[in-house]
This record gives sequence, C-alpha cells and structure tokens, in this order.
Amino acid sequence: MKIIGTGRSHPSLVVTNDMLSQILDTSDEWITTRTGIKERRVISTENLEDLSIDAAKKALADANMDAKDLDYIICANVVNEYICPAMSCIIQGAIGATCPCFDLNGACVGFIYALEIAESFYRSGKYKNILVVCAEEPSRMVNWHDRTASVLFGDGAGAVVLTEGDNIKATKMSASCNWDRLYQKHELQYSPFNKKPNSNLPLVMHGQDVFKFATRAAIKDISHVMKETGYQPDEIKHYLIHQANLRIINNIKEYLNQPDEKFPLNIQKYGNTSSASLPILLDETNKEGRLQRGDLIVMSAFGSGFVSGACILEW
Ligand code: COA
Repeated sequence: MKIIGTGRSHPSLVVTNDMLSQILDTSDEWITTRTGIKERRVISTENLEDLSIDAAKKALADANMDAKDLDYIICANVVNEYICPAMSCIIQGAIGATCPCFDLNGACVGFIYALEIAESFYRSGKYKNILVVCAEEPSRMVNWHDRTASVLFGDGAGAVVLTEGDNIKATKMSASCNWDRLYQKHELQYSPFNKKPNSNLPLVMHGQDVFKFATRAAIKDISHVMKETGYQPDEIKHYLIHQANLRIINNIKEYLNQPDEKFPLNIQKYGNTSSASLPILLDETNKEGRLQRGDLIVMSAFGSGFVSGACILEW
C-alpha cells in the first residue's frame, strides 16, 4: 500500500509544564531535561470522537478521496468513553462511509499495527482504500496527583489514508509480556456472580523499566526492517520515532549514528499521545513540505505490553 493523505487534530487546551507545577510537585526544568516535553494538549471541552472525525476528514481531503470510496476503517485506540460501539464505527457514520470497520488496542504501537494489518488486507485482494485513525486520550488514564506519569502524556488524533501501491517495504511487530510495568485496570459493571474485587486504578508505570525496554526494542525492530530490506541507515531520509521521551529518541539516533535533521520532533509541543504520536508527527512533517516522493521513512513505536514495532516505507 501507500499513504496518500494525512491529517491530525488536537484539543484546544495547551497545558504547559509551568501549569503542571502549580498542581504537582514538579518543575519545567525537571520535565524538560528528563523528557523534552514543554507542553501538551489536553481534552477539556472536546470529545475524543470529535478529534478523530476531524483528523479523518482532513486525511480524506488531503488524499482527495470520498469517504464512500473507503473499503475499511481501522481505529487504533486504548480507551475512550464508549466500551461499545467501536470508535471506528462512530467515525464511519460521521464521515459518511459505508465500509466495515474495527478498533484495535496496540497501546502506543497502534499505528504500526494498523499499517501492517492494512497491508495484509490489501494483499488479500479484498480491500483497496483504507482509513487508519489513531485517537488517544491518556489524560483520562493517568493519576493527576502522581507526577511521574501524568507529565508525560497528551491527547490527540492522527489519521492516514492508504491505497494500492508498493510503498510499505517492511514491517516488524514484537511482543514480550511484561504487563505489570505499564498498565491500567478499569471498573466494569457489578456482577452478582463475580467474586473478585473491582478495581478502578489509574495508570501504573515503572518508568525506568519502560525506558530500557523502549530503547532496546526500537533498536532491535529498526535493525530487523533494515536487514530485511537491505537498506543502510544512511539511505533513510526520515526516522519517525514514537514521541515518548527525547532521551529515548536520542539513544536511538546515537545507535544509528544519524544526524538530528533526520529525526523530526514534536514531543516538546504534544508529549506522548500514544498511538496518535506517529500519524501526528507524519502529518506535521508532510504538511511542512519535508517529505519528497521516493524518500525512505523508518517509523518505530513501543508501549504497554510490552509491544513494539517498526516499518520502512517509501513516500
Ligand atoms: N517532577 C519532578 N521530579 C520527579 C518527577 C516529576 N514529574 N517524576 C519523578 N520525579 C523524581 C522521582 O521521584 C525521583 O526522585 P528521587 O531521586 O528523590 O527518588 C527522581 O525524580 C528521579 O526519578 P526517576 O524515575 O529515576 O527518573 P528518570 O530519569 O528515570 O525519568 C521518566 C523518569 C518517567 C521520565 C523516565 O523513566 C521515562 O521517560 N520512562 C519511559 C516512560 C514512557 O515513555 N512511558 C510511555 C511508554 S509508551
């Protein structure tokens, strides 16, 4: 497949590090030096579905495609207000599409999962035009009294439209279960038959373990797709890395021995927007005119699970 349109949507509220230091025992200096984040967008009056629909419409307009011509919609999402129906179904109705759709929860790796699934759907011969929307609201998962995790995340949505092409050169997905390093349980309805205590706890994160996993996994996945395709690091024009922590991105950059300009960044503005991070970064890089036809792009993401993934595509 190939990507022919990109779009993104952000909540209107900008929450700066200084604003966080009013409510948490933290500082702009700590957050900036440890993470690279200066501010993030956080949902206040909007709904996540509004952002998803907006990003989807922008990607369709960019692709010059009518929603009626879509053959599938995949929405990557960890949590939203609806347990059912799927967010993709809400998007489908709002944009006027008639195709089937489903949601996937690939944590922060949802975008690369979706690309790999879209590519497999296309290869099956049944589907040609696929919309991928990544929509995330981690601000509703973290404990806003806990300075360790809450400062890292932001909300947002990113989308791409894919159609037939030979531009996805390789994908590599990985999973290694370490669920208790980064997880959240949510409360379900009361059942008279269920004897287990209910739990409704905010996100639990063991930051240093996640940091080490992320760095190792990204290097391993990127090396895998490079080896599979035979491309050398110098041949890649853009490395789009999940915007979780600037220090993780710098470690990957050092390992690959590649210059700063190949690593677009927006972590300073948006923090970690989970699966929306990569399509938002892709859209920004695209709209800034930095992508030329034929450019090779590596993307890499990692997240709760642990899961990780990387891909190489030609623009
Ligand atoms: N403000 C100020 N101090 C903070 C803080 C904050 N927001 N969060 C933690 N601290 C404190 C800690 O309590 C600790 O204090 P102590 O030394 O008195 O015990 C100190 O800062 C160092 O904490 P530590 O956890 O060792 O910092 P770190 O350098 O590992 O950075 C993270 C913490 C969370 C930024 C880092 O581990 C990280 O980014 N991990 C990956 C997380 C991630 O990407 N998650 C999503 C993956 S998709």
